[in-house]
Amino acid sequence: MKKVRILILGDLVGTPGCAMLQKYLPRLKDLYKIDGVMVNGENSAEGRGITPKIMAFFKQNGVDVVTSGNHIWHQKDIYEYLKHHTDLVRPENFPTECPGKGTTFFTVAGTTIGVLNLQGRVFMRELLSCPFKAADSALTFLRSKTPCIIVDMHAETTAEKMAMGFYLDGRVSAVVGTHTHVPTADERILPQGTAFITDLGMAGARNSMIGMKKEPIINNFLTQMPAKFTVETTGPFILCGVWIEIDAESGKALKIERIQIVDDEIKL
Ligand SMILES: [Fe+2]
Ligand SMILES: [Fe+2]
Repeated sequence: MKKVRILILGDLVGTPGCAMLQKYLPRLKDLYKIDGVMVNGENSAEGRGITPKIMAFFKQNGVDVVTSGNHIWHQKDIYEYLKHHTDLVRPENFPTECPGKGTTFFTVAGTTIGVLNLQGRVFMRELLSCPFKAADSALTFLRSKTPCIIVDMHAETTAEKMAMGFYLDGRVSAVVGTHTHVPTADERILPQGTAFITDLGMAGARNSMIGMKKEPIINNFLTQMPAKFTVETTGPFILCGVWIEIDAESGKALKIERIQIVDDEIKL
C-alpha cells in the first residue's frame, strides 16, 4: 500500500509564527517522514493577511500549499498573486469575482493531493455562500483528479466545523478546522475514513490571545471601545497542527496525530 504523510499547521501569526515554522519544519519533516506540508497563512503578515514576500518565505522553507480565511484580503498586494499562483488558496465560497480560487492541487511522492479551503458562516462577518454546497460542487471536480483531498474549514464554531467533518466523511482524506487559533483535542479518524480535528491551533506567542497582545483585547472587553490589536512578539512561542497519513490509492486516512511545540529560546 502506498502511503503519503502530510503535515498541516494552523494559522501562523506574524513574525513569531514564521520563526517557529523556520526553526521546526525541517525537524518535523525528518521526525515524521513528511512528504508534503500545508499551512494556514491568513495571519502571517503582522497578524492580518499575507504578502507575496511571505509566500516566498513559506516556499523557501518547504511549504507546498498555503490556505487562508477571512483575513486574506488585508494585504492588497496579494490580490495579483492570488490570480497567478496555485500555491495559495482563499475560501472557495467567497463570491466568484474575488481574486484567486478555493481549490488547488500539489504533487508529493508521486501522489496528487487536492486542497479545498472553505469558510464557515456562523458568527463570521462575511456573507458567504453555503460552505457545504460549495464543498459538494468543488468535490465533483477535485475527486475527478484524485481521491486524496484535504479540506481547511475556516470557521468560528465547533459545530460548523464538526458538521463539515461528518458531511464530508468518506469523500475526502481530511477535514481540519482553522480560525480560532486554539487547538482542540478531538483529532480522530471518522467512521468512513476521513481524518478530522475541530481546530489545528496556531503558531505564535503563547501568552497572547490568538497571537495578539492580550492587554488591548482585555481592555476592549472592559470598555467596548475600539482597540488596535498588534502581534505579541515575546516568547515562549508555540506551533500547532497535525500530521496525517493517507492511503494514496483510496484516499482514506490511516493516521492523524496532533503536534504542539513550545519554545522559549527563540529571540525575535
Ligand atoms: Fe486566523
Ligand atoms: Fe480567520
